[in-house]
Parts: sequence; C-alpha cells; structure tokens
Amino acid sequence: MTPQVLIVGAGGREHALARRLAESPSRPRLWAAPGNPGLLRLASRAPVDPADHPALAAWCREAAIDLVVVGPEDPLIAGLADVLRDAGLAVFGPGARGARLEGDKEHAKLVMAAAGVPTAGYAACGDLAEALARLESAALPVVVKACGAAQGKGVAVCADRAAARAHLELCFTADAFGDAGRRVLLEECLTGPELSILAVTDGRDYALLCPSRDHKRLGEGDTGPNTGGMGVVASAGLLTPGLGRAVGEGVVAPVLAELRRRGVDYRGVLYVGLMLTPDGPRVLEFNCRFGDPETQAVLPLLRVDLLELLLAAARGDLGAWLATLPEPGPGAPRDWPGAALTDWERAAAVVVAASHGYPGPIRRGDAITLPPDRERAWVVQAGTAERDGRLVTAGGRVLGVVGEGRDLREALAAAYGLLADVRFDGLVCRRDIGGGLPPSRSEP
Ligand SMILES: Nc1ncnc2c1ncn2[C@@H]1O[C@H](COP(=O)(O)OP(=O)(O)O)[C@@H](O)[C@H]1O
Ligand SMILES: [Mg+2]
Repeated sequence: MTPQVLIVGAGGREHALARRLAESPSRPRLWAAPGNPGLLRLASRAPVDPADHPALAAWCREAAIDLVVVGPEDPLIAGLADVLRDAGLAVFGPGARGARLEGDKEHAKLVMAAAGVPTAGYAACGDLAEALARLESAALPVVVKACGAAQGKGVAVCADRAAARAHLELCFTADAFGDAGRRVLLEECLTGPELSILAVTDGRDYALLCPSRDHKRLGEGDTGPNTGGMGVVASAGLLTPGLGRAVGEGVVAPVLAELRRRGVDYRGVLYVGLMLTPDGPRVLEFNCRFGDPETQAVLPLLRVDLLELLLAAARGDLGAWLATLPEPGPGAPRDWPGAALTDWERAAAVVVAASHGYPGPIRRGDAITLPPDRERAWVVQAGTAERDGRLVTAGGRVLGVVGEGRDLREALAAAYGLLADVRFDGLVCRRDIGGGLPPSRSEP
C-alpha cells in the first residue's frame, strides 16, 4: 500500500522535507497544505484550508493519510497536532502543551529549571515598571526577550540600558509583539559560538541529528539586521568534545522526563538552540519543530529513510526502530545519541537568496530563473509563487540553494556554484556562509 503523507506548511523546510520523503523506498504519495510551487512539484495540494483544524482532520481521515508532518511552529502552538491526534491520525509534531516550549520562553525556563538544564539566568517581568526596576540592577550587556512567539523579532541583545529600555517599551508600550510581549525576560548575556541540534523524539526515546549553524544577520561578517536565517552549515566539523552527551543526557533526556512528569507526550522535533560558552553548552531556546533553514542542510546528511524515522516518532515506536539500525558509520562521534542516522563523512550548506528589501518591506513579483538541480546542489523554494505560468518572488526568503560534499568546502562550492545561475532582480545573499569555520572535520 502506498503510504499517504501530508506536509503542513509552505516554506523551504517543507520543500526540503518533501524532497527527502520522496526518496523513501516505500514511495509515498505526498500531499501539501498549502505548499509552495517547488513543494507542489513533489506533492499534490490538499484541497483544504490548513488553518481550519477540524476540516483538515476530516480531510486527512477521508484521504486515509498515514502520517501528518507539521512544519511551522504557529499551528503546533495553536494545537493542530492535538486536533489531528484526537481524530486518530499519526502526527509528527507536538501538541499545544509540548509546543509551549517554543511559544512561551518563560515556560521553557521553568521546565529547564525543573529539569536541571543549563541556561542563562533571567528575571521574568509582567509590566514596564517592574522591568525597568529590574533593569537598573541588571549586568550589561543584557538580553531582553518577549516571552511569546514573535517571528524572530522579539529578542534584543542590549549593550546598554537605553537600548534595553527601548526594547521594553516596544514590548509593553508600543505593543509591537501583541500578546507575545506581555511578559518579558531579562536574561544574562552569554558568549560563544551558537549551534543548533535537532532531536527527533517520541517523547521517551530520541536521536540527535547532525549539528548545524545558522547565519542570522543579513550582512557579511555577521553585520546588519537579524533575519530568519541567511545560510546554514551542517557538518561533523561543528562538533565539540562531549557535545552529544551534554545535549543528550544534559538537555533532551531530562526535558522529556520533565514533560512526561507533567503528562505531556512530545512527538516531533525538539530543537535545541545552544551557545557553546567557556563554561560549556547553555540552552538559549527550544523550538518545537524542524528549523528553517537548518533542515535544508541537515536532512541531506541522513543515511536512513526519513519516512520510517518520522513514522516511528509519530507512532511512539522510536526506541524499537532505532534498535534496528546498523552501527554508526565511519567518523561518527562517540556518545552521540542516534549517531547511526547521520553520514558523518559528508557536509551540507544552504545559502539563502532573499528579496530586495529583506528583512524590511520587500518587493514581490520579480521573475525567477532557476537552473536545473545538480547531483550535489539543488534549489529549495520558500517565498515563491506562480503567476501566469512564471515563477516569481513572493516572500522575504525566496529560496535556498543547498550544496553537499565530503566537507564544508565542497558543500559550499557546490551551493555557490549553483546559486550563480539563479536569477531574479534584487536578489540578496551572503557570500560568506561558512566563513571562518573549519572546512574539514576536527576530531570530536
Ligand atoms: N542569553 C543570551 N545571551 C546572548 N545572546 C543571546 C541570548 N539569548 C538569545 N541570544 C541571541 O538572540 C538570538 C535570538 O534569541 P532566541 O532565544 O533564539 O529567540 P528567537 O529565535 O525566538 O528570536 C539568539 O540566536 C542569540 O544570538
Ligand atoms: Mg532562535
């Protein structure tokens, strides 16, 4: 029987998931709600509004969907996975109580405290007067975070009190983030390189995928405004000694145990955003889903069937499935939970091509010319649309070019080589993705 898989979302992450799922030996039929032009070359559009959760559940039942993969955080925070699971569907993605780890940064801090997870010290404040009073005694720099989901705009790293006051006023007085800014964290500022680690879990067992590093700033040399991510590298070269154990036993396992203690059944990705400080890894934040664009770089390094992995997590069988895997391949780090999932002798990179004006107000409708995919480089679409049969820009991050190779140098060369043939007016990209990183692996 052909497995029927629905992907919820419309971005580069969802296109990357579809690309990898389409390679599954069980040859699934893919559906997308709502999808984008790239994703819809691999999937049929589900004839239902994904924002209408009961209607989506009813359609999935009717279409005998075997697995729903929810890409973005907003529907997870809003409880889509609960509605689908209540309808008897297998869902990859946590319910609202699990997704609160991303949707409420104060809640995440409380779970981390209960689980003994190392993170930055903080104070939570519910109004401007309280926050300003706290600020007087806070060490500088200080990080000011809106507690709710604010599309990556709710956090400011503030060098002085004036900047912190300005961000607090955005949250409380200007109401720039709506409900998301009604509570705020004043957080200790940590230093060190950042790293993202995606844990795939069924709430009990888990496997860590290859670590990756995002490039958040718009400009080369990490300058300019923050964005949703301008590029990513994923490689064993990002590993540091003891990282797998620190993240597995020190973060993921205790958080899952604390969630179980609270009666939360977490199935999906627990995305751990880390800072590698001089005192060891510290958690900056959790996300409740695959990262975008991290996923575009991490999935090509899998040496297992993504469909089997996601189904096992969604069904609560991950431990049994992991036990069927062969030994980890050459170059795998020791003490890395789920090391057998990744090909550690390969690396991947993503370079994002954004619209004119991004991350401010963007121009839309510029015609896009895409080169054909190559064996080691391909285009993942995000903010694209079809107009009169032509592909045009339709969002901030228009697409990502993924490159793969034996090390980051090869992966980056493949990505930039293909990007040279991608054309649209106003294309903005960074030329320095992966710059300053070790190009080949260093021993873990
Ligand atoms: N405690 C901290 N110390 C230093 N930098 C931080 C700290 N917390 C967050 N940051 C910086 O701000 C960015 C965004 O913060 P994060 O908590 O990941 O929020 P979000 O991704 O929801 O915007 C991080 O990637 C990091 O660069
Ligand atoms: Mg973040």
